[in-house]
Amino acid sequence: MVNRRVVVACCSWALLLLLLTTSSTAAGAGGGGLRLNFYSQSCPRAEDIVREQVRRLYEEHGNTAVSWVRALFHDCMVKSCDASLLLETTTTVVSEQASHRSFGMRNFKYIATIKAALERECPATVSCADVLALAARDGVAMLGGPSTLPMRTGRRDSRESYYGVVERYIPNHNDSVSTVLSRFAAMGVEAEGAVALLGAHSVGRVHCFNLVGRLYPAVDGSMDAAYGEYLRGRCPEAEAPEDTREVVYARNDRETPMLLDNMYYRNLIAGRGLLLVDQRLASDPRTAPYVRRMAADNAYFHQRFAAALLTMSENAPLTGGQGEVRKHCSFLN
Ligand code: HEM
Ligand SMILES: *[C@@H]1O[C@H](CO)[C@@H](O)[C@H](O)[C@H]1NC(C)=O
Repeated sequence: MVNRRVVVACCSWALLLLLLTTSSTAAGAGGGGLRLNFYSQSCPRAEDIVREQVRRLYEEHGNTAVSWVRALFHDCMVKSCDASLLLETTTTVVSEQASHRSFGMRNFKYIATIKAALERECPATVSCADVLALAARDGVAMLGGPSTLPMRTGRRDSRESYYGVVERYIPNHNDSVSTVLSRFAAMGVEAEGAVALLGAHSVGRVHCFNLVGRLYPAVDGSMDAAYGEYLRGRCPEAEAPEDTREVVYARNDRETPMLLDNMYYRNLIAGRGLLLVDQRLASDPRTAPYVRRMAADNAYFHQRFAAALLTMSENAPLTGGQGEVRKHCSFLN
């Protein structure tokens, strides 16, 4: 058993390396200019500092780790992984966080904690985009997902925020599989990678306003009946005022809500997908085979998740002299 694990681990990493060396040729991915240990000269302890802070924050507030994973997705899918998501609203900026698509995102203030620890040791050196990418990597490890992902660094921070792009481009909870697949394809993530990344919905929560469409007036036919009853209990009234729906939430995965594991896929097969997009992955012929494979094999899920997360994290980065390195992640220099 132990030996078999070792073999599986060895070969998944070999495959991952292979994917890494070929991923830069995928459509949209690019990633040119990023490299492993970008800060080895300028801030040798940068990655250790991020890891220490992510661990400390996770021990205080476990859901910080969940937040970094969602935040990386939102940041990277909108133009590039450039920390545009982190900018707060000012006279010149409309924050991406203000979009309805960003609803429920939390813990941004702790990005400032991580960044402050870096600034103490290496002022104005490590970009906020890299802080987010490294924090997501370390958050995944804290949540029992794949650890030691070879995350490249050297991203620079945007000088603008893209509120309008978030509104138009980040998929909604009820979008079609075609829409979802095309948005991931634009980042160089193929269908299987998209299915793996949606496995992040193995952790965290969803607010009722993203669910009531599946519960009232009738429970969505693709949902397990008992699960529908449970969710109606969580999100009681169809006519509930917006503010109630925006406060009350359901867990993505009732069994292992703080573990990045393949329970998500097992739930989908049992009709216990929370969002409509989640549930659709289990029935669409382009995605269903991957759902079944990942439901059957957690190690395989982890391996595909790791590869797709790295591809996503290299979407069209700003590098070299582009953008800036922000001193405070919430504000332009
Ligand atoms: C088709 C693509 C996706 C859609 C439509 C989508 C939609 C959503 C929605 C509606 C929520 C709940 C927000 C709320 O009501 O509080 C959510 C939560 C979450 N999403 Fe996604 N998502 C997608 C892909 C992803 C990807 C690719 C990742 C990461 C790799 C991700 C990570 C998360 C996490 C971790 C949460 C829980 C956040 C928390 O509990 O604070 N999502 N997503
Ligand atoms: C998706 O849900 C939103 C409410 O969150 C609703 O306004 C919209 O019409 C729905 N779209 C589709 C395609 O059903």
